[in-house]
Amino acid sequence: MQEFSFFLPTKVYFGEGVIRRVGEEASKLGEKVMVITGRTSARKTGILQKVESSLKKKRIKMILFEEVEPNPSFDTVERGGEISRKEKVEVIVALGGGSPMDAAKGIAVLSTNSSPLDLYIGQGKVKNPPLPLIAIPTTAGTGSEVTKYAVFTNKKKVPHRKEVIGDSHLFPEVALLDPELTLSLPSSITRDTGVDALSHAIEGFTSTRAQPLSDLLALKSINLIFRYLPETINNPHNLEARSSLLYASLLAGIVIAQTGTILVHAMGYRLTTDFGIPHGRANGILLPWVYEFNLPANYTKGALLTRELEDKIKDLSEKEEAERGVFLLKSFLQRVNISEGLEEKNIKKDKIEEFAKEVMQNKRKLAVNPRKATLKDIIEIYKRALLGKE
Ligand SMILES: [Fe+2]
Repeated sequence: MQEFSFFLPTKVYFGEGVIRRVGEEASKLGEKVMVITGRTSARKTGILQKVESSLKKKRIKMILFEEVEPNPSFDTVERGGEISRKEKVEVIVALGGGSPMDAAKGIAVLSTNSSPLDLYIGQGKVKNPPLPLIAIPTTAGTGSEVTKYAVFTNKKKVPHRKEVIGDSHLFPEVALLDPELTLSLPSSITRDTGVDALSHAIEGFTSTRAQPLSDLLALKSINLIFRYLPETINNPHNLEARSSLLYASLLAGIVIAQTGTILVHAMGYRLTTDFGIPHGRANGILLPWVYEFNLPANYTKGALLTRELEDKIKDLSEKEEAERGVFLLKSFLQRVNISEGLEEKNIKKDKIEEFAKEVMQNKRKLAVNPRKATLKDIIEIYKRALLGKE
């Protein structure tokens, strides 16, 4: 069997009502907490109040940073870091989707390391251990609660760029996954984040860094998302379906914590920074086309993925079975209407060329893509995904 290593230092609690553990978990780590969240939803849904009351019970001092915007900027993180240092915060609690969670990771870093954030962009550049982080996701998709990655938007660059910190210091200390928190998510966010998780699982499964244990989690995650995402969109209050999706997102997060993402994420970032397409939706638009492009690299695994989604069809060769997976993936993403609003963006050919050239610079993600992609290949994939050209 293939040699592999597997690392997950985060303590995970999963279940209805586990958010009530936040006070107890925080009390093991310090006496003063900074809760990082978005601008409105945690308060509007009453989730923030649950955190407050749990912390109060343990007599933990709390300050609140409610300023995280979607795709958090360097400035927001710098501001949070400054407050944290001034207030001598000891524990960070991240509450929200990927954006508050990533911002919280950055703030935890800047609490114990000098500014600016730019110093830590890249891999393994964080010097001092950041403040301990308790991550409480309120969407089912990002997986950031169990990864060592944080993505920020650099607004000093024109057009804006997504930049990543990858560092094992960034794994949260504790992740509290409470499916009840996802019950009030609007269907478009449920869809976009769920598809982000699907992209994590499929990218992790096809990455050259895939390994037996992460593959096991990836296949289960893909299976659950196919089964439960449409059901959750149709019946947003189905707690069982919500739980399965959050679980699938957790599994996919653990997968990319081992493998990282590949070409889909590399190609998706500019769709978000330049056209405002949400991260998960951007990935979903590209995913089947990248999957199809990568398929010849490993038909055996492609066939395995197909068989996770349906029973083996008699008389299909391995290659045919793998190719059927592309059809299943395309139909699934069409069914959840992943390309919603894409036409209005009116993305032109010269933009595609510019994006593709930038993707070619992303050596890290290209190196783990299972099939070598040239500039021409990447332009072609963008065209198929964005302009509907075969
Ligand atoms: Fe993602």
